[in-house]
Amino acid sequence: MTTATETLSETDRIFGKGIAPSTIFTADNLDVLRGMNSDCIDLIYLDPPFNSNAEYQNPFDREVRFHDDWTMDKVRREWIRDLQRKQPALSHVITAAAITHDESMQAYLAYMSIRLVEMHRVLKDTGSIYLHCDPTASHYLKTALDYIFGYRNFIDEVVWNYGTPSGGRAAGRKPVKAHDTLLVYAKSYGKHTYNMQHLGYSEKYVRERFTYTDEAGRAYRTRKRAPDRVERQYLDESRGVPLSNVWSDLRQLYAYHLVKRRQEETGFPTQKPRALLERIISISTDPGDVVLDPFCGCATACVAAEGMTTLKSNGEWSLLPAPRLWIGVDVSPTAYEMVLRRMESELGVTERGADGRLLTRAGEVTHKVLRYAKEDVKGHLWKLVGGDIPERTDFSPEKAAELQESETRSPNILEIRYIQQEGCCAADGEKLALRCLNTEHIVSQKRYNGPNVDGNIQLMCQSHNSIKGEGTMADLDARMREKGETPWTERPPFIRSAERKYLPPELRPE
Ligand SMILES: C[S@@+](CC[C@H](N)C(=O)[O-])C[C@H]1O[C@@H](n2cnc3c(N)ncnc32)[C@H](O)[C@@H]1O
Repeated sequence: MTTATETLSETDRIFGKGIAPSTIFTADNLDVLRGMNSDCIDLIYLDPPFNSNAEYQNPFDREVRFHDDWTMDKVRREWIRDLQRKQPALSHVITAAAITHDESMQAYLAYMSIRLVEMHRVLKDTGSIYLHCDPTASHYLKTALDYIFGYRNFIDEVVWNYGTPSGGRAAGRKPVKAHDTLLVYAKSYGKHTYNMQHLGYSEKYVRERFTYTDEAGRAYRTRKRAPDRVERQYLDESRGVPLSNVWSDLRQLYAYHLVKRRQEETGFPTQKPRALLERIISISTDPGDVVLDPFCGCATACVAAEGMTTLKSNGEWSLLPAPRLWIGVDVSPTAYEMVLRRMESELGVTERGADGRLLTRAGEVTHKVLRYAKEDVKGHLWKLVGGDIPERTDFSPEKAAELQESETRSPNILEIRYIQQEGCCAADGEKLALRCLNTEHIVSQKRYNGPNVDGNIQLMCQSHNSIKGEGTMADLDARMREKGETPWTERPPFIRSAERKYLPPELRPE
C-alpha cells in the first residue's frame, strides 16, 4: 500500500501505481481495474466474451483457448459478496437472469457486473463507455448497465450492421445474423464528450441533388430557407449526413476486399476493424484523452487510439496526428505481441526509446504481467499470486475505514429499499408503485440525531410519513392503531437494526 510520504510519479498519481498510458497488461482485467484510480479514463471500449457458448482458439498460441461458456463455479463467492455490498439491488438483476434465462446467463452477468462496477468508477465525469455485445446477452447487460450507470446516463444503442447476409451464414430457422450491438453510456449524461460525426454523401446522392455548377465550377444545390429566400448549398462546404445509430458503412474485417483486409488482419478470430474503433474514439474523445480497452484481444483499440489523425487547415487541408493515450488489458499475452507488430506494420512506428522498446507519443510501449495460480482442480478459478500488480494511489486504508464508518448515501437507495420492502410502505405494508413512496429517516434526524446514511433510510407513503413525523416506529404504530389501522407486522429487519443502532439506548427496541 502506498504511504503518504512516498513520492509518486505523475502517472502513478493520476492512474495508480504501476499504471501508465501505452501499457498492455497480461492479466484478468478485474485486478487491473481494482488497482486503478477513480476518474482517470475518458473512454472505455470493451468487447468481452458474448456468452456465445463457443470455444476460441488463439491462433498464435495453440496452448491458449478461451471458453465462452459460463457456469456458477466460474464465479467467485467474493464477487457476489462485493456486489451485494457495493450495489445490493444489482444482485436481483443478476438473479433475474437465472430465472428468465438460465444459470449460465446469471454467471456471465455476475462476471461482467463486478467488472462494470469498477469501469464505472474509473471513468471521468466527462467519460463514456461502449459495451460491444450481441443479442445473446445485450438485454441483460443493458439492465445491469442501467443499474450501474443509471438509466438516465444511457446515451444510445448503436446497431453495427457489419456485413451483407450471405447464404453461407444462414443457420437455423431465423434470419441471417448481420449486426452487433454497442451499448453506450455516459458517466454523467450532459457532461460527456460528444463530437458529432457526419458521413459523406453517396455518389448517387451528389449526382441527383447537387445538380448546379457556378461560374467557378463549384457544385451546389438550392435550399428554400424561407418563402422568399433561396440559398445555395455548396458541395465542398457540406459536412454530409449526420451519423445515425445504425452503422452500415463499416464492414466486418473479413467482409473487406482482400487488399484492405491484409493491411490489418491478424488472424485473431474476434478482431474488430480499426475503422470501427476510430469512429468510437472520434465521437467520444478529444486528442490526448485516455482510452481503456479491458478486453483488448489483438489490441485494435490501442492501435486505433495511437493512430488517430485530425483534418487541419494550415493554408491547405492536411491530416495531422491526433493520438489518444491508451491502456489495454487481456488475459492472453498475445495482446502485447500484437500491439508491437501492428504499431509497426499499420502505423509505421519504428522509433525506439531509451529502453529499446517501441516509442509511442506517450512513451515506450510497456508490458506488465500479473501472475496467477490455479485455485480449483478444474482450473475454473485463478488466484492472483504476484507480478506487476497495480495499486490505487487515491485510496488509503485510513480513507477506506473512514468511508465504511460514514456509510455514504447510495444514489440507488430508493430502488434498493423498494426491492427489500417488496414494494410496500414501511408503515402498513401496503404494496404501492415506486413513485408513491418516499425515502425517510427511520430514526429522525431532527429529534434523535439519526444519521443521513443508507442504513437509516426506509420507504414510506406520504400520509404515513406525516403521521410518523419525528417519532419512532413504535410511536407510529401506536398512532396508527388509534386510527383503526394495522401496522405492518413483517417489516424487513433493517428497520429494527437501524433503531437499535441509532436511537438513544432507552428507546431502542429489543
Ligand atoms: C472478443 S475478444 C476482443 C477482440 C478485440 N476487440 C479485437 O479487436 O481484437 C475478447 C478478449 O477478451 C479476453 N478476455 C476474456 N476474459 C478476460 C478478462 N477477465 N480479462 C482480460 N481479458 C479477458 C480474451 O482473451 C479475448 O482476447
